[in-house]
Amino acid sequence: MKDGKRPDPNVIHPIAGYDREIYVKPTIQNPNVMVGDFTYIADSDFEHHVTHFYPWSRDRLIIGKFCQIASGVEFVMNDANHQMNAVSTFPFYTLEGWEMKPPGPQDMPFKGDTVIGNDVWIGQNAVILPGVHIGDGAIIGASSVVGSDVAPYTIVAGNPAKVLRKRFSDELIALLLRFQWWEKSVDEINRLIPVLTCSDLKKVEDELRKQLN
Ligand SMILES: CC(C)(COP(=O)(O)OP(=O)(O)OC[C@H]1O[C@@H](n2cnc3c(N)ncnc32)[C@H](O)[C@@H]1OP(=O)(O)O)[C@@H](O)C(=O)NCCC(=O)NCCS
Repeated sequence: MKDGKRPDPNVIHPIAGYDREIYVKPTIQNPNVMVGDFTYIADSDFEHHVTHFYPWSRDRLIIGKFCQIASGVEFVMNDANHQMNAVSTFPFYTLEGWEMKPPGPQDMPFKGDTVIGNDVWIGQNAVILPGVHIGDGAIIGASSVVGSDVAPYTIVAGNPAKVLRKRFSDELIALLLRFQWWEKSVDEINRLIPVLTCSDLKKVEDELRKQLN
């Protein structure tokens, strides 16, 4: 407990006196946006970062716990896409006066749900394209355009986003994925902070092995 406060995933403003950083979950209105506890964004509103997302959209945006979303990040949803299997991409059916019925689902590009894991850090102004899956612990560089899936604990950057490197050894990544610290209680996580923020990765690996046994 710090400053006499206990971390509460249902408060909107976790920094006293500052309203440009919010825990996202308690602000969500759209039932097709699901966000886990303690994921925050550096803004005073989250849903305007989710674009081309309508009441009739068929996809969902699913974000895990403890993600860190910078300002200017955009989650582009599937209804951003125009029909591409005909000679014109012009969406006549959406505009008044044009005699076109909406295309059937088979004629529209659809990449499924966008799924972001836990403890993912998404850098400033990154764009996450429809249907992308980003694994736990990944880092997305500033201004990246992410069009393909990102493996857990991997750093990607650029347009198109490419792998810069894996963050840790395969052994440590496997332990972290088994351990899933984000699923633990606030009290347990508070106790684990020295492990989660220790830069001696050998020591961390030993500690995780011990705790998993
Ligand atoms: C990706 C990032 C985390 C750096 O990771 P890193 O492993 O330390 O990478 P390095 O700085 O060593 O750079 C490695 C290479 O990637 C390139 N690179 C780094 N970040 C990049 C980015 N966002 N876009 C494109 N290329 C990038 C570097 O230019 C370098 O290229 P080179 O090998 O050709 O010289 C960092 O650059 C970044 O984008 N941070 C996000 C910061 C942010 O947006 N914060 C928001 C507030 S929370």
